[in-house]
Amino acid sequence: MPIRAFQPIDMPGLYDVCLRTGDSGQDARNLYANQHLLGHIYAGPYPTADPGLTFVLADSQGVAGYVVATADTNAFEHWCEENWWPPLRKQYPAILAADPGDGSQDWLRIRALHEASPTHDEILKNYPAHLHVDLLPRAQGAGAGRSLIQTLITALRARGVTGLHLGVGSGNPGARKFYLAMGFREARVQAWGSTMVLEL
Ligand SMILES: CC(C)(COP(=O)(O)OP(=O)(O)OC[C@H]1O[C@@H](n2cnc3c(N)ncnc32)[C@H](O)[C@@H]1OP(=O)(O)O)[C@@H](O)C(=O)NCCC(=O)NCCS
Repeated sequence: MPIRAFQPIDMPGLYDVCLRTGDSGQDARNLYANQHLLGHIYAGPYPTADPGLTFVLADSQGVAGYVVATADTNAFEHWCEENWWPPLRKQYPAILAADPGDGSQDWLRIRALHEASPTHDEILKNYPAHLHVDLLPRAQGAGAGRSLIQTLITALRARGVTGLHLGVGSGNPGARKFYLAMGFREARVQAWGSTMVLEL
């Protein structure tokens, strides 16, 4: 399946893949009444804020995978604070950030978009870029994840970026092994999972 640079027509596909892989790599559709919340947080802002660093895997069935990234996490977060979060906070007011007790996770994502704030982390000094990579099951296990990461690395190097980081949840050990196979090392292990880094 060919990899190409993100086009605006890919945005619905990005959101769809994000949701279908949003439960520690598994389908998260049954966790959300609002099927767009995950994409609003983990997919949409990247190609909008930092064009040129999102790549998709697509065929006649649609988008089957992507890597989204930013070259400069702090600049990205400030951009989100000014441009991305305000309309979302207005559309999904903080009153919805309370657990309705029905097992849905919408409230957690709404809380996250209200509480998002710029990261103060020494890791950003040497590893300012970060990414999210997700593939539908039909695209997994055939080298596409590796190709997406390599494509992104080439684009980041062309911009002179020196380091890349990401977070992987403890509930997704397969993804952690994938990142180790890609050359990332575990810089920090926290309760929720690991922060992994790669020198470029
Ligand atoms: C994790 C993911 C991106 C990997 O992409 P992929 O295309 O399936 O992986 P590749 O086929 O390119 O594999 C590349 C290497 O990683 C290893 N790898 C990939 N998935 C692995 C797994 N689940 N367990 C162990 N190793 C794995 C492969 O063995 C391969 O190693 P090798 O080259 O030394 O043989 C993909 O499976 C995926 O999107 N999963 C669901 C969403 C997800 O979990 N995203 C990450 C969120 S942090």
